[in-house]
Amino acid sequence: MIRLFLCCFLFIHTAFAETLPQQNMVASAHPLATKAAIDIFKQGGNAFDAAAALALTIGVAEPTGSGIGGGGFFLLYIAKENKYIMLDAREMSPTLARHGEIYQTKSSIDGPQSAAVPGLIAGIDHLITKYGNLDRKRDTEAAINIAKHGFKVSQHYQRVAQWRKDVLKTNASKNIFLHQSKVPDIGSLIQQPELANTLERFAKFGADDFYRGETAKRLVADMKKDGGLIRADDLETYQLIEREPVRFQYQGFEWIAAALPSSGGITLAETLGILKDDKLGKLSEVERTHLLIEAMKLAYKDRNQHLGDSDFVTIPDLLNEKRLKKLRHQISMNKTTPSSSFVADPSGNGVDTTHFSIIDKEGNMVAATLSINYGFGSAYVSPSTGILMNDEMDDFATQIGKPNAYGLVQGKANAVAPHKRMLSSMSPTFILGKNRTFIVGTPGGSRIISMVLLAGLEFMHGGNDVSAWINKPRFHHQYLPDVVQHEQGAFSLQVSKQLQAKGHQLKPIRNYGNMHAIVWDKKTGQVFGASDKRGEGVTATFTVKTQSSPVK
Ligand code: DON
Repeated sequence: MIRLFLCCFLFIHTAFAETLPQQNMVASAHPLATKAAIDIFKQGGNAFDAAAALALTIGVAEPTGSGIGGGGFFLLYIAKENKYIMLDAREMSPTLARHGEIYQTKSSIDGPQSAAVPGLIAGIDHLITKYGNLDRKRDTEAAINIAKHGFKVSQHYQRVAQWRKDVLKTNASKNIFLHQSKVPDIGSLIQQPELANTLERFAKFGADDFYRGETAKRLVADMKKDGGLIRADDLETYQLIEREPVRFQYQGFEWIAAALPSSGGITLAETLGILKDDKLGKLSEVERTHLLIEAMKLAYKDRNQHLGDSDFVTIPDLLNEKRLKKLRHQISMNKTTPSSSFVADPSGNGVDTTHFSIIDKEGNMVAATLSINYGFGSAYVSPSTGILMNDEMDDFATQIGKPNAYGLVQGKANAVAPHKRMLSSMSPTFILGKNRTFIVGTPGGSRIISMVLLAGLEFMHGGNDVSAWINKPRFHHQYLPDVVQHEQGAFSLQVSKQLQAKGHQLKPIRNYGNMHAIVWDKKTGQVFGASDKRGEGVTATFTVKTQSSPVK
């Protein structure tokens, strides 16, 4: 009896405390992908169906950033179970890569040997079958149509194609992504008929086709012919893993963030853990920025040295409170502590890879960051499947001490090993306040974590102007190189001078990131969202009564 009373009380309490979202909302990097997710809501799908359709569609319509030849992380909130979970669909190393010896002579960025075993299809199938309302056929339909009939070349596509044109050189890659070996005109169509067939097989037979069936057979045959490392055994062994997200409290908010093999959660927890007792809001801009830079530097140092796939290496307790306090004591307010040495600059402008955020009217939430790593991944298309393969092997420390494409100098914990997952910076994150929840993430290589950190702090600060938070100029420090990379406008002249006086070396870089975020106000049920102005994304809502309306 008492138990029953308690249950009712809890139920009533929750119902009063939390107003469900008034609308379904989607924020993604491509208009066709946002539309596909909204159409799924119209058909009665939930946030998980919408995420599956979006992931498949964006992989077709934004091949520069993600696709079924890659992987990623889906952070989920399953409202009816009140459960947070991360789907780890990260790629894993093929056995033949052994300990990465091949990358002493061959590229870990360009060509079939840079491709790891894709995980995205396993993630999407799991999402649909375990958490969705609709079937695979419906969730795959939009992606198949776009692959068959084509999507229009945009400015972003042109920019990345221009950058990667020289490595898009196999017949299959060239024929699909370039027109007569040139960057296609804006508005021209990119069609992917062989990929449409592969997606049709997925719709019928599920992940089984990809890892054990016809697609597996074809992919392995192409890999053997063209010098790739993925074999049947690698595909058969691949497993989607459900992981507990990293959860930590920071000044009255709970951050729920990506777990290893993403370094996102731990690095966010460490940066904010170091600053646990600092009232950042009360400090001057210079002091606040200085502290954030110094804490980022320390956390990235640990990230690069200690983090790797936790199924393969033991991870030290970086978040130990005493240790964090000690690290905070090492920070001087007067001057920066230099990193020990200097390495090559990171490259890429951080709009490859993709992130989307979704919420539905039941309160289900998805933050997903998906990747094929570099622009157009490895630039290798498996001809008989139409799949553009990732170059995620470069996220490993392919040679200890050698900076990867993002300038990350990483250690043994992230060395290559058969069937190991490479460390990632992708950081889909939820931040829960008393009355509001934030769903956020972005592409941008090693800078992803600092972008999520800065946007999260903006959210904690208050207001509803999601667009202002995510469009604010950014800064970043990753230990090595020992410079503060920043976008134009991140610091006023005066703040720049004061930071330099503390010994910071400031390095202006091109704009980076492509963030898509949603806020759910749990008091009113209103949802607010925005897509990064640096990209071409669209945020849209759908309610049964009002139909869909773009809010960008
Ligand atoms: O997993 C990672 O950390 C990288 N593969 C992400 C790459 C990325 O964000 C590219 N965008 N610039």
